[in-house]
Amino acid sequence: MERLKDKVAVITGGGSGIGRAASRLMSREGARVVVADYSTEAATETAALIEEAGGRALPVTVDVTDEGSIADMIAATVAEFGSLNVLCNHVGGTDPRTDLDVLRMSMDEFDRAVSRNVTSTLLGTRHALPHMIRAGGGSVINTASVAALVGDVLQTSYGAVKAAVVSITKSIAVQYGPQNVRCNAIAPGAVLTPALENNLPPGVIQSLTEGNALPYLGSPEDIGHTMVFLASDESRYLTGQLLVVDGGMTMQSSAAPGRRAQLPD
Ligand SMILES: NC(=O)c1ccc[n+]([C@@H]2O[C@H](COP(=O)([O-])OP(=O)(O)OC[C@H]3O[C@@H](n4cnc5c(N)ncnc54)[C@H](O)[C@@H]3O)[C@@H](O)[C@H]2O)c1
Repeated sequence: MERLKDKVAVITGGGSGIGRAASRLMSREGARVVVADYSTEAATETAALIEEAGGRALPVTVDVTDEGSIADMIAATVAEFGSLNVLCNHVGGTDPRTDLDVLRMSMDEFDRAVSRNVTSTLLGTRHALPHMIRAGGGSVINTASVAALVGDVLQTSYGAVKAAVVSITKSIAVQYGPQNVRCNAIAPGAVLTPALENNLPPGVIQSLTEGNALPYLGSPEDIGHTMVFLASDESRYLTGQLLVVDGGMTMQSSAAPGRRAQLPD
């Protein structure tokens, strides 16, 4: 219950989905949590859930596409809790309606995707690093996606920006490892969050499940538990890594689902 005792964690996108689950799980392990979200209402709701359960949380309104807003988020964290040990650069994603194939993708959406996923990760880390270094070290956790690892017929921007997040993760790990700052990324597969459920037709959810080695899709908590591990000192020898948390989606042969059906009883 005290794996994150004495740690201060900032989680962007903490108002919903994976970010909310991670915020609550980190609090359960003793962290003081800054729930940072574009939606003041959502951030306040997550923080209230944490406080009701006996934890400490500060809701902060942030737009991670705005450097001034990121700077204010980090300043509010240090003003309230005195230090900063864990930063989850979790906000990301693209608009699936305009993030299409190379011929039809919106280049404006590509630019927005870079800002929301890549620039936000760089700037969040840049503003957090001095405080982590002053505290004797820290853990930066970046949310990538399995889309960084495979090609797809659509969402060209999404794959590209998440691959950039993986690359930046390694640079941060190498550059600030000597100051005891670790940096790792998580590549979630399909996780049942509002973002996924609102954007995909029902048939796709079933085919995604069939594409996993495990017979179910992920929950926000499945990713949240991995974030707790990366935030904790249990992962003190782990840096620059991409943890793929996808129910076996990307490691299995594309022939496996069909072959499974051919197995003798
Ligand atoms: N859900 C999945 O299956 C899945 C899979 C792979 C990767 N991911 C990644 O997980 C992350 C978030 O996913 P989720 O499923 O938790 O989403 P979600 O939609 O449930 O939550 C996203 C939160 O981010 C906030 N937000 C959006 N833009 C913001 C901005 N500019 N500044 C601050 N806050 C902002 C929203 O208000 C919302 O509360 C993204 O990086 C996404 O690419 C999700």
